[in-house]
Amino acid sequence: MGATKRHDVGAGRPILGIETSCDETAAAVVHGQRVLGTAVASQIAVHQRFGGVVPEIAARNHLLTILPVVELAMQRAGVRAADLGGIAVTNRPGLIGALLVGVHTAKALALAWQLPLVGVDHIAAHVWASQLRPPNCEENTWPAPALPFAALAVSGGHTRCYRVGGPGELVALGGTLDDAAGEAFDKCGKLLGLPYPGGPHIDQLAATGNPRAVTLPRGVLGRDDGAYSFSGLKTALRLHVERHFAADSPPQGHALADLCAGFQAAAVEQLVRVTLGSVRRAKLRDLVVAGGVAANAGLRAALSEACGKARVRFWPVPVDYCGDNGAMVAGLGEALLAAGGADDPLTLDAADTATVRRAGRAGANGAAP
Ligand code: KG4
Ligand code: ZN
Repeated sequence: MGATKRHDVGAGRPILGIETSCDETAAAVVHGQRVLGTAVASQIAVHQRFGGVVPEIAARNHLLTILPVVELAMQRAGVRAADLGGIAVTNRPGLIGALLVGVHTAKALALAWQLPLVGVDHIAAHVWASQLRPPNCEENTWPAPALPFAALAVSGGHTRCYRVGGPGELVALGGTLDDAAGEAFDKCGKLLGLPYPGGPHIDQLAATGNPRAVTLPRGVLGRDDGAYSFSGLKTALRLHVERHFAADSPPQGHALADLCAGFQAAAVEQLVRVTLGSVRRAKLRDLVVAGGVAANAGLRAALSEACGKARVRFWPVPVDYCGDNGAMVAGLGEALLAAGGADDPLTLDAADTATVRRAGRAGANGAAP
């Protein structure tokens, strides 16, 4: 890691963060970007039998768990309402019914506890997780990428590389033309008979497989505009499986591990090549990788190696804060509130679109978040 030190912003009081944009009901308390306590109620088991997230069911489950999750996070952090300095909530992008549960809970708590409220963009929060320091860190400064930095945000609905100029200030340098990387992992996992979400299962199986046993496409070649593409990779895997395996005898054992390794190698190679191209063109010296797919061991290793060769400092978000969590929301909320960015608790609304700006390049117009 580089020697960059992040400024301490812990002068105020702790911030409560609430996240309900998809299938995790999460809350956390952060102070000075230090995580004091977190809680999460995952809905993976609820949605698994449908092979993906069912929006209406997600919203209903958030309703059931949101208050106990908030209470638990505050209890773990050792803070009461009177200790808090503000509330941050993910208000975009995401499943609208799911977002509404978090936003209305946060508005009600902000009004009842008379606290400032700020709505944060989910992707900007993922990226800001690079600034968090772990609960047991006692130091006043913690190594973190200095602004501006590049960030690859890779999640279930999102694959873009950004220039991050400040808290919540994201400009897209490139993005996917079709599927998000996590979507490709999940669709391919389903195709291979793995449980939802496929990403972590593919990651685990790929570690035991041969990535050269099956060669799959590496996205759009010959372009230099930051564009990723994963739909061809998904189709190639489907055609390979249909050609080599009967419907009643899907890949298993070594064959399954080799397919996972081949798929992951192709996805990772593309993510690394395109991202490093965007970082080079933007002349940035620090790269963050954030979002659910950033937990992928193959991606972290390959980006680390490529950054080393390109003399770019690499800042993978700690695996605990890659998937959806409340700490990233509280952390970004703390920075926004410190800069005077509070919202009106009576009018803050949820939206299914992102707030980030696009750089106007072909590859920047990625799939909807
Ligand atoms: O950020 P996230 O928790 O939720 C969204 O904002 O979408 O990301 C979820 C995505 C899913 O597609 C999941 O399969 C993927 O992250 N994921 C992984 C791994 N862990 C989670 N993909 C690849 N390897 C992993 N280890
Ligand atoms: Zn996410």
